[in-house]
Amino acid sequence: MSPITKESFVIQGLAGKKLRGTVKINGAKNAALKAMAAAVLFDGPVTLNNIPDTNDVGVMSDVLIKLGAKVEKKSPNTLTIDSTFISKTDIDSELAQNMRASVVLTGPLLVRYKKVSFPSPGGCVIGTRPIDMFIEGYKKMGATIDPNEEMVYSISAKNGVSGADVFFNIQTVGGTETLMLAAVLGKGKTILRNCAMEPEIVNVAEWLNTAGAKIKGAGTTTIEIEGTGGKLLNSKISYTAIPDRIEAGSFLILGATCAEELMIEDCRPDHMESVINLLKDSGATITTTGNSITVKAAANPKPFNIRTHEYPGFPTDIQAPMVTYLTQAHGESMVFETIFEGRFKYVEDLSKMGATITIMNPREILIKGPTALAELPEKDELRAHDIRAGFAIVMAALLGKGTFTVHNIHLVDRGYERLEEKLTKLGASIKRTQT
Ligand code: EPU
Repeated sequence: MSPITKESFVIQGLAGKKLRGTVKINGAKNAALKAMAAAVLFDGPVTLNNIPDTNDVGVMSDVLIKLGAKVEKKSPNTLTIDSTFISKTDIDSELAQNMRASVVLTGPLLVRYKKVSFPSPGGCVIGTRPIDMFIEGYKKMGATIDPNEEMVYSISAKNGVSGADVFFNIQTVGGTETLMLAAVLGKGKTILRNCAMEPEIVNVAEWLNTAGAKIKGAGTTTIEIEGTGGKLLNSKISYTAIPDRIEAGSFLILGATCAEELMIEDCRPDHMESVINLLKDSGATITTTGNSITVKAAANPKPFNIRTHEYPGFPTDIQAPMVTYLTQAHGESMVFETIFEGRFKYVEDLSKMGATITIMNPREILIKGPTALAELPEKDELRAHDIRAGFAIVMAALLGKGTFTVHNIHLVDRGYERLEEKLTKLGASIKRTQT
């Protein structure tokens, strides 16, 4: 499946020119990955539609294939996954180190095969990303946990996964999904409290319910699951991923910064209220229908403060692109990152381009705008630090004057399907090259 490559984007700054056109949004990566994990709960080959053709989906496919599952790509955005052939329950360490979402597979594997082992998971370098709440949840559900010296966790539930009452100290997207999936085939009733409420969780839960699961309350802070007691779900019921609100939000911010007119199709504006409201208040012209957004850039964008928050608040995954926007706003803006403590690494790159940003502490920055963004001196370089920071830097390069090379775009490819093709259609000059 998708190999990880070290490629770069070479971008010609728009230097005041505006983007124009239509962009179609893919299915949500963060729903698709969880649906792929949930395929382990089904009684045969199950079809997943609207799956983005991104690197993370490729890595999740490889993780499943290594366990023995049959994963077939029926079209660029359709997969079938047959978990009947799973013969192993130890998640590949190297693959898992590259993608934290692999930890979500532990729920379905544990409930179906009564054991699973996995390494302390990796993913974007955006801070320490502990798994304490998964572990506590599994213990309550009757499992025993044995971390060995290499930080590989071996979890077993010899008598099966039982219903439990679990309170999450922090709202965790992955924790909510993982324990929800483990409870689906478990014995008895599980109540999960202080759950994350992201639409991707609802999307997966609704699909599972049509296939035989009994999940109530997904999208609220309390989810109740009546376990099927081992009865597998009906693989004739296919899944369709909801539109990716983070990809749509990224393009919305880009449009609000530098589009004469940008139409964002196949999206869900109702999942993006916080971002739409902030940009409207800042001066962008935004109109929405049920599944599209049209945006025109603000002439003199007003600054504003943001505080990242669990859904439906302002998403941490949109924080970096919004900071690039704020470098063009007229005045001072504060950004407070509440979810991850390591999510300002890209600020260094924006500063090198001329942005005026002060890091107040590991979670707060102050941006003074507007600033012209310019080419770097020779030998200095720009890079994607994670998926979303990568988009932010690509966006900054488009806003700048000159030619920019952005390295490490395999990280951008983890979450955006062929970004350069979408941007080229809007009038950008961006080329993929080998580093
Ligand atoms: N946390 C703990 N203990 C745990 C689990 C989480 O302390 O056992 C903490 C985390 O360290 C973090 C907070 O809880 O401070 C929230 O993390 P969460 O578990 O919600 O994040 P995640 O499930 O690992 C998903 C997305 C991220 C997105 C976050 C927050 C996927 C595959 N990833 O991560 O997406 O930023 O939720 O919305 O769904 C991305 O797509 O670029 C991305 C990083």
